[in-house]
Amino acid sequence: MNKKITIKLSQTSSRNYNILIGSNLQNELLKFLRVQKNIRNIVIITDSTVEKLYGEKMVTNLESSLPKAKTILNLFSFPAGEKHKTQSTVSRLQDHMFAQKCGRDTLVIALGGGVVGDVAGYVSATYMRGIPFVQAPTTLLAMVDSSVGGKTGVDTKYGKNMVGAFWQPLAVFADVEMLKTLPKEHIRSGLPEAVKMFVTHDKKMFEYVISNREKILQLDLDVIQKIISRAVELKAGVVIRDETEKNERKVLNFGHTVGHALEKLSNYKLLHGYAVGLGMIVEARISNLLGKLSDTEYELIEKTIVDLGVKTGDIKKFEPKKIISEMSHDKKMQNGEVQMVLLNGIEKVCKKHGKWAHFVESKVIFEALE
Ligand code: NAD
Ligand code: GLY
Repeated sequence: MNKKITIKLSQTSSRNYNILIGSNLQNELLKFLRVQKNIRNIVIITDSTVEKLYGEKMVTNLESSLPKAKTILNLFSFPAGEKHKTQSTVSRLQDHMFAQKCGRDTLVIALGGGVVGDVAGYVSATYMRGIPFVQAPTTLLAMVDSSVGGKTGVDTKYGKNMVGAFWQPLAVFADVEMLKTLPKEHIRSGLPEAVKMFVTHDKKMFEYVISNREKILQLDLDVIQKIISRAVELKAGVVIRDETEKNERKVLNFGHTVGHALEKLSNYKLLHGYAVGLGMIVEARISNLLGKLSDTEYELIEKTIVDLGVKTGDIKKFEPKKIISEMSHDKKMQNGEVQMVLLNGIEKVCKKHGKWAHFVESKVIFEALE
């Protein structure tokens, strides 16, 4: 059965949106598009891999079902992979849209993983100062995390997601059937972001992941749908309370301070999810070294992440000094200091003086990395 979660961002309904999670959602997307007012152009933005798997099918489906006289349909794609999450990709896509005379009556559909969602979201946020967009995530990572909450943007030579905007989608359609074609390494890479939600917010679901590990890795869609639904429900709560990351939303960066540095140092060969998985192990270890997280809970977190396919040996490929130096470019820095989310326990994020992210001395980070 499909699950619907609503993000309520305003008292009026204008900025609220639904996230639909389920199977075969093409008709739901069509129903949604049919009732959109003042939309003349629909632009599907996707990457080279998803274009062949689902993009062309989506074009055929929409072409045959939407009134021709009313809608002009375009599909634009860019080469798959984090390396293409750049300003030049955004410019190229926007130039295609200008060339096709897409006006402010255009709606963008982001069809793909987190890279497509972040790029297409940023294209939409900045095209003619902002046009509406819809997220149609096709990876596990995008379904559990990136398609929800309105963070959009690109990487620069100075680091991950350094340029971007908060720009909320009009709706999210997460069709779990699409995960059947996703390579296993990308299923595994989506899991750490779900574990992040549960380790910070929901001990029972954290335990559910542990006891259903085999089913998850074998892509049992009932189990996967339950995991996506709960992760999104929890994320929705955080986004509603702190949409633009003034404070509480920082909790969703658990594992990312170290993770982003690793991703960048690997020249984006290390997938985002694995980097976050390694980052969570290091940041949990920091919490443990600071006397906040017990040995037992730290070891359980590490084992869970490793059992889902993250290899701790990968971190040895990077010199601790370089990781710490890379972290100094992180946009989560405050007053020139590295800020981190720390755990007092599973489901217990450290909140001190009303703050959810904290300064950690380099020597402690160094010790944890060692
Ligand atoms: P991705 O978008 O690169 O997708 C991974 C690979 O899978 C790509 O090669 C893609 O072409 C392919 N693919 C996608 N769907 C497929 C399918 N159904 N079948 C077969 N192949 C498919 O990577 P990702 O892991 O989805 O996302 C990572 C990105 O998400 C990072 O850039 C990260 O920074 C971002 N992110 C953003 C947020 C946010 O809140 N905006 C949150 C977390 C992560
Ligand atoms: N993925 C972190 C956030 O959306 O805030």
